[in-house]
Amino acid sequence: MTNKTVHHKDAMDTMVIEKVGEARAVAIPVLERKPMAASVITVTSGKGGVGKTTTTANLAVALAASGSKVICIDTDIGLRNLDVVMGLENRIVYDIVHVVEGAAKLKQAMIRDKRLPHLFLIPAAQTRDKSAVSPSDMVRVCDELRADFDYILMDSPAGIERGFRNALAPSDKVIIVTNPEVSAVRDADRIIGLVESEQKGPPSLIINRLKPEMVKRGDMLSIDDVLDVLAIDLIGIVPEDETILVGSNRGAPVALEEKSRAGQAFRNIARRLKGEEVPFMDIDRQDGFLSRLGKLLRPGG
Ligand SMILES: Nc1ncnc2c1ncn2[C@@H]1O[C@H](COP(=O)(O)OP(=O)(O)O)[C@@H](O)[C@H]1O
Ligand SMILES: [Mg+2]
Repeated sequence: MTNKTVHHKDAMDTMVIEKVGEARAVAIPVLERKPMAASVITVTSGKGGVGKTTTTANLAVALAASGSKVICIDTDIGLRNLDVVMGLENRIVYDIVHVVEGAAKLKQAMIRDKRLPHLFLIPAAQTRDKSAVSPSDMVRVCDELRADFDYILMDSPAGIERGFRNALAPSDKVIIVTNPEVSAVRDADRIIGLVESEQKGPPSLIINRLKPEMVKRGDMLSIDDVLDVLAIDLIGIVPEDETILVGSNRGAPVALEEKSRAGQAFRNIARRLKGEEVPFMDIDRQDGFLSRLGKLLRPGG
């Protein structure tokens, strides 16, 4: 009985292989060339200083700590700081401009993280301007890296100039970071339009530096207010948290700290990026509830 089943299964497999013989001949070399095929995630914003670099560093360590192979590229040429936030600034020998200009091999510019063996950084150049790299250079660099990583995270500069276009060109997924304040949200809205016009959308949103007590008092936009304006998917809410600054100064992103609230928020976002359904933290639920209550109590609201 067992033998018969096995025999039957073998026959079926052979048949299938014969039938798809031609397709397999094409498919196998592709699989061999790209065993990993990383997704390229671009972290960007409209306004500067909202937390892109903080987000890139924390998502990178959270993804790498959960077993993924991750490389970050700092595309903020002339203003590099992802290396500092990751604590790797003293290890820089070559940067992305050296790679693009052929002065260094890609591997020479990849700095291995001190804590996580599957995490790497390619730093930006400090003394050059954004015109040293083009969008097609970035596409080429990412294509070369894709086979060896699960995630390539691009830390974008603010604004809509060359640096932004460099970070966007190779992107498979765009994350927009905003703060819950009117000017940041307005600038985020513009960037969403640009991302969509480049057919890189729809992006996902991170609301960073939320202060629930300010929202409660009506002094800060609530999550619902921000989502009403931007109308894109929310992938995470990160509270205002002073451990962020301490972590950045020490070159140790808080996503590695069990007790940090912001660290927990970034770990949750990393899990959502991997396709897990992770409920939003308490602070978010509280904010949603209170903001709805606030709207009910507000005259005319
Ligand atoms: N959730 C947060 N809580 C407290 N400070 C934060 C938070 N996110 C970012 N910051 C601080 O805000 C500043 C700007 O962050 P950064 O990541 O450099 O922004 P960007 O890359 O968008 O310019 C930094 O000093 C950083 O430590
Ligand atoms: Mg930055």
